[in-house]
Amino acid sequence: MAKHETPLLDQLETGPWPSFVTDLKRQAATKPECWDILGILELSYKDRITHWKHGGIVGVFGYGGGIVGRYADMPKQFPGVEHFHTIRVAQPSSKYYSTANLRQLMDLWEKHGSGMTNFHGSTGDIILLGTRTENLEPFFWDLTHDMGQDLGGSGSNLRTPANCIGHSRCEWSCYDTEEACYHLTQHYQDEIHRPAFPYKFKFKFSGCPNDCVAAIARSDVSVIGTWRDEIRIDQAAVKEYVAGNYPPNGGSHSGKDWGKFDIQKEVIDLCPTDCMWMEGGELKIDDTECTRCMHCINVMPRALRPGADQGASICVGAKAPILDGAQFSTLIVPFMKVEKENEFEELIEFIESIWDWWMEVGKNRERVGETMQRVGLPTFLKVMGIEPIPQHVKEPRSNPYVFWKEEEVEGGFERDVEEFRRKHAA
Ligand code: HEM
Ligand code: HEM
Ligand code: SF4
Ligand code: SF4
Repeated sequence: MAKHETPLLDQLETGPWPSFVTDLKRQAATKPECWDILGILELSYKDRITHWKHGGIVGVFGYGGGIVGRYADMPKQFPGVEHFHTIRVAQPSSKYYSTANLRQLMDLWEKHGSGMTNFHGSTGDIILLGTRTENLEPFFWDLTHDMGQDLGGSGSNLRTPANCIGHSRCEWSCYDTEEACYHLTQHYQDEIHRPAFPYKFKFKFSGCPNDCVAAIARSDVSVIGTWRDEIRIDQAAVKEYVAGNYPPNGGSHSGKDWGKFDIQKEVIDLCPTDCMWMEGGELKIDDTECTRCMHCINVMPRALRPGADQGASICVGAKAPILDGAQFSTLIVPFMKVEKENEFEELIEFIESIWDWWMEVGKNRERVGETMQRVGLPTFLKVMGIEPIPQHVKEPRSNPYVFWKEEEVEGGFERDVEEFRRKHAA
């Protein structure tokens, strides 16, 4: 029996897409607080404002984050959501699950919470939506003791890292994104659970420049796989594509008739650096000019593969607009080996150089991308101990406001005006 009238939400039960309203109503059969979620949401639809109070500070002992506290501003009308805290639970790399694991987690959530979830939060966490303060420690106890699972991150700390599926189901992954993500998550548990930074900080790991986890846009340190030798070409398979026996792009465009595959038009002419050509029926690539954009490989996955000398490019500084404007990560290390064998030593050293500096220099609530803008890329490279190279910029500066260090200028900055006047009388 419906506890609240929800005429506006009911409209969202129509249409072909899975309806969250229908799901919530089903959940409400066993979890009556779900009726209050529907009720307060209906009210927000009507009033066009949120009905959650500002902020909320809750958590579990030992940790400085992991739980987002939240309270309804109309607790009398909607007692089921008076407390409605969100718990972030660390997800496995790539989000592969067993039903046994999920069943166990859902049993816990039925016991301690609303039964409502978000699979997954944008950062990657399993999000358990809605519980009361007094349930937090008991839930955390069961999560850690019965399931061996932990909370994710929130606050001014390292947030939950995430990765593309990498080697597990993709031919293009240039390093083991899952292992890298898992290893660094374990390595930096302290930085995840106890905020020690000027602001939040995120890692994301993509196996190639297709960047399926959107690392370049959504992480302060974006680790994006690449290679530095030649694209591996299977000329026999190229011929199959040309003959029309293999569908281009793995059949991604089969929903529409784009005509017969034309390697010139669809691959060679679209290569951003114009470094490909056909010669005697064979596809040639000038790999010295290839920027590893992935286009040709994406179009002909059965004929082309990334090179064998694989690693990753490390880019730094992506963030959303607040305060100083949105940023993608900017290239800092063009190629780094990212290897389990040395426990990701090079990457860890790189990350800690950033933290050593940013934790001192970063202003309160200043993302590392903003700190980099404030001090300038040259200064950032200097603190990182990295030599500036042309790959660090898309184009050189156009303004002439160039800073020189005093030791670079003959005679230094101390000048005597009398000396000047001897040649140039006032
Ligand atoms: C025949 C008259 C003038 C000549 C031949 C002349 C020439 C120049 C030259 C060669 C520069 C350097 C440009 C560069 O750095 O690339 C310059 C810069 C400048 N001139 Fe003149 N100038 C003349 C008149 C004036 C006047 C009347 C003013 C101000 C009322 C003026 C203000 C400036 C300023 C402010 C700059 C610096 C611009 C900047 O780089 O920010 N100039 N001028
Ligand atoms: C309230 C008044 C003014 C403000 C707020 C102002 C502000 C500025 C700012 C922010 C810059 C850029 C500085 C930099 O990036 O290095 C600048 C440069 C400049 N301003 Fe002004 N300005 C004012 C009045 C004036 C006046 C009245 C003149 C000339 C009669 C003038 C001439 C210049 C020149 C020539 C430059 C270029 C200096 C350079 O080459 O480094 N400004 N001003
Ligand atoms: S980012 Fe690249 S390696 Fe990772 S899943 Fe996507 S295509 Fe594959
Ligand atoms: S990866 Fe991109 S730049 Fe390199 S050859 Fe293929 S299309 Fe050209």
